[in-house]
Amino acid sequence: MKVDVLLGLQWGDEGKGKIVDVITPNYTTVARFQGGPNAGHTLEFNGIKHVLHTIPSGIFRTNTINIIGNGVVIDPVILKKEIDNLAKFNIDIKKALYISRKAHLILPTHRIIDAASEAQKGKAKIGSTLKGIGPTYMDKTGRNGLRVGDIFSKEWDAKYATIVAKHKELIGFYKFDFDITEAEIAFNESIAFLKTLTVVDSEYLINKKLQANERVLAEGAQGSMLDVDFGTYPFVTSSNTTTAGACTGLGVAPNKIGEVLGIFKAYCTRVGSGPFPTELDNEEGELMRKIGNEYGSTTGRSRRCGWLDLPALKYATMINGATQLIMMKTDILSAFNTIQVCVAYEYEGITSEELPYDIVTTTINPVYKAFKGWNCDLTQVRNYADFPVELTNYVEFIEQYIGVPIKIVSVGPDREQTILR
Ligand code: GDP
Ligand code: IMO
Ligand code: MG
Repeated sequence: MKVDVLLGLQWGDEGKGKIVDVITPNYTTVARFQGGPNAGHTLEFNGIKHVLHTIPSGIFRTNTINIIGNGVVIDPVILKKEIDNLAKFNIDIKKALYISRKAHLILPTHRIIDAASEAQKGKAKIGSTLKGIGPTYMDKTGRNGLRVGDIFSKEWDAKYATIVAKHKELIGFYKFDFDITEAEIAFNESIAFLKTLTVVDSEYLINKKLQANERVLAEGAQGSMLDVDFGTYPFVTSSNTTTAGACTGLGVAPNKIGEVLGIFKAYCTRVGSGPFPTELDNEEGELMRKIGNEYGSTTGRSRRCGWLDLPALKYATMINGATQLIMMKTDILSAFNTIQVCVAYEYEGITSEELPYDIVTTTINPVYKAFKGWNCDLTQVRNYADFPVELTNYVEFIEQYIGVPIKIVSVGPDREQTILR
C-alpha cells in the first residue's frame, strides 16, 4: 500500500484534526510528519471537544497506531501534558502511540530564543506561536540538535549541557532576560516520562506496514502557505508542510505516496503576521471571526479572516499534488448574503492567477467573483443532494477552477457533520 497524506492548503487551522479523526477508521496508522506543538488540531465527538498539539488525531479511534515521525519537533513537557489530558479516555498510550527516535527535542532554551528573536524583530515579528519551533529546526539543520534517541544515551547530560551553553550565549546576544530554572525542572521530569513511552525507528515501522498492505495516513500540520519554501516567506513556519515533507518526515519514498487530500476552509484565515491578500479588515471579517469562532486552538489569538483565495489554493494544490479536496466550515458562510471569491490577483499592472515572487512587498488587488449566498442552516444537512443550489454552484465553481474534485464538505465541527460526495 501507499501512504495517503492529508494536509492544509491555506494558512493552517483548516480543520485537519476533525477530518483525520473522521477518516481514521479507514487506516491502521496515522502519523504526524512535521511541525510540533505550534499545531492545535481540534476534534469533536459525543459532545466532547479535544485539542491535540503533538499527538496524531487518530488517537481516539481504537486499534489505530499513532506515530510521531522523525520530522516532528517534540516539546516533551507539552507531550506529557497532552498524554495526561487523555487519561479519561482509557487509551493504552504505550500501544497507541509510537515516537520516532529521530524526532528532535524542543528544549526550554529553544523557547527563550524564539521569544528573544521575536522581541528583537519588533513590528516585523513573525507572530510565532513561541513554542520554540524555529530555533529547534535551526539546530536540526545546523547539526546541533538533540533527538529523542539521545535521551537514552550515557552522554545525555553532557550533550544537553553543551547545547544549552551555546543557547545561553545566543540569548546573551539578544540581550534578553530569562530564567529557565522552573522550566528545566519540568523538562527533566518530562524526559524521564518520555523514556517510559514507546520509542521506535518509525521509518522501518511505517515501511513494514506498507509492505504488509496496511493503510497509513500522514497528518500534516500548519498549511501550505506557511511552508518554509513555498509559503509567504519569511512569514512562515520552519518546516515543509507540503506533501514532500511527508517523505522526509516519515522516511517514505515519493513513489510510496498515494492519495493527497488537500483541506481548505470555504473562506480563509491566518493567525500571526504576514501577507493575506483577501483579508477583510472590516465588519464582514469581524462577523466571520465571530460566527466561525476564529480564535487560535494553540494560542487563543484572534485569527484574521477573509474570502476564499483561489490563486493561492490552486498554487497549494499544485505543489502538493492534491488528488482530492475537502472543504471545511461551509456552515459559517451561511451568514453572508453575498460571498466573494478571489479568482485572480492584480499586481504591477498585470492580472494573473499566479502568485508574485515577493508576496510580502507586492501590492495585490484581489479580483473577486460574487456568489449569491445560500442563507440557510447547513448544520443538520447530511446529504449532498440536500444542499441548496447556491452552495452546489459554489462547490462546482471551485472544483472547476482548481481542477480537482471536492470529495468531502464539512458543515459543523462534529464528526457527524461531514458530507461525503
Ligand atoms: P486544524 O489545526 O486544521 O486541525 O484546525 P483547528 O482545530 O485549529 O481549527 C478548526 C476549528 O474549526 C476547530 O475549532 C474545529 O472544531 C472547527 N471546525 C472544523 N470543521 C468545522 C466545520 O465544518 N464547521 C464549523 N463551524 N467548525 C468546524
Ligand atoms: P495547525 O496545525 C495556524 C503560524 C504562526 C506564525 C507562523 C510561525 O493548527 O494548522 P511558528 O510557531 O511555527 O514558528 O509560527 O506560523 N502557525 C500556525 N497558524 N495553524 C497552525 O497549526 C500554525 N502553526 C504555526 O501563527 O504565523
Ligand atoms: Mg489548528
